[in-house]
Amino acid sequence: MQSLLNKKIVLGISGGIAAYKTPELARQLMQEGASVQVVMTEAATQFVTPVTMQALTGNPVYTSQWDSSISNNMAHIELSRAADAIVIAPASADLMAKLSLGLADDLLSTLCLARDCPLLLAPAMNKQMWEHAATQRCVQRLAQDKVTLLGPASGFQACGEVGMGRMLEPSEIAEQVIAFFQKKTLLGKKVLITAGPTFEAIDPVRGITNHSSGKMGFAIARAAVEAGAQVQLIAGPCDLATPLEATGKIVRINVTSAREMHLAVLNDADYDIFFAVAAVADWGIAKPSKEKIKRQGKDAPSIEFITNPDILLDAAKTVKTKGGKPHPYCVGFAAESTDLEAHAAEKRQRKGIPMVVGNIGHETFGSDLNQLLVVDETGSKKIAKAEKLQLARQLITLVAKKI
Ligand code: C5P
Repeated sequence: MQSLLNKKIVLGISGGIAAYKTPELARQLMQEGASVQVVMTEAATQFVTPVTMQALTGNPVYTSQWDSSISNNMAHIELSRAADAIVIAPASADLMAKLSLGLADDLLSTLCLARDCPLLLAPAMNKQMWEHAATQRCVQRLAQDKVTLLGPASGFQACGEVGMGRMLEPSEIAEQVIAFFQKKTLLGKKVLITAGPTFEAIDPVRGITNHSSGKMGFAIARAAVEAGAQVQLIAGPCDLATPLEATGKIVRINVTSAREMHLAVLNDADYDIFFAVAAVADWGIAKPSKEKIKRQGKDAPSIEFITNPDILLDAAKTVKTKGGKPHPYCVGFAAESTDLEAHAAEKRQRKGIPMVVGNIGHETFGSDLNQLLVVDETGSKKIAKAEKLQLARQLITLVAKKI
């Protein structure tokens, strides 16, 4: 699935060393289906060549407003009219200052002033320049003008210093551009998500876990942030990057056991929606050994299990009894080996929740694809096989309509 299909993006590049990453950004936007038209400032051509950008995008690259090859020489009007968005990466301190004042003394700044489409800037500059009162004034003005800032991040800078002002990585910018185009169906909502497996320690080196990769839960977290929600993601042990982390709209809490996950969920009951996607161990180990259990002849040790708390059940109950607060909309998940529909319906009743989503088939563990069966008060309906992110967006749309 391409998330930027049919989108026309003008990719502006201003003069900063972070421009060495912009060819990769162009490639990633195109991989998502966007057509990319590059416009560079004169200074940008010192860091990356127009030929590089032209070869990657397959489109001519514009650097001057005095280019006689552009039809009727109105590039600043034509380019912005055709665009769904202008994305500038890197956006230098100088360019941001110009844009905040409405100056238009080269093709890129003129194009921005003449636009009637959204403008997204990925700032990149030395930390002193970023922190300077003049730059911060520009940032405020740009926000008032509804310009979207992507980053910057903090970290190692080309000048050798460490601090705020680093351009986001191309993948983070692309992720945020994709998010920008998604419908804001959960604006102002708080969403809690559990994801991944849990791990129940037997001793310091051994434990019991399951095959959950966390991909479905993380996809739902991404789709929820894309839809405008503030997300808390409580993740069991899994090796996945936090989606849209640079937006500041997602807080991730890593936990190991079901009991830790239970505590983390019940710690903050103030949310509008709870997606319980984690594959929580039904049983924990009664007395995990503090030291590694040694082999003793041929005898296998016997392990005593205890029943873990039902996180979803407790979360649904707890918040329901909290005075004054509306109930969160709870969504449970079901991975069954037989009779999915009946089991999902039974889970919905048993846990007293409005929706259970069943994973159809067993190849879902670790896969990027899934197929879902949604069981709610209206009955059940299938969501056709698709990438987990696409399914997550469909689920978010569905749940947004319910609340
Ligand atoms: O039938 P089961 O109780 O395993 O239901 C699965 C659903 O309940 C999933 O949404 C899972 O995240 C949640 N669950 C939970 N705590 C448990 C077991 C399951 O939150 N201890």
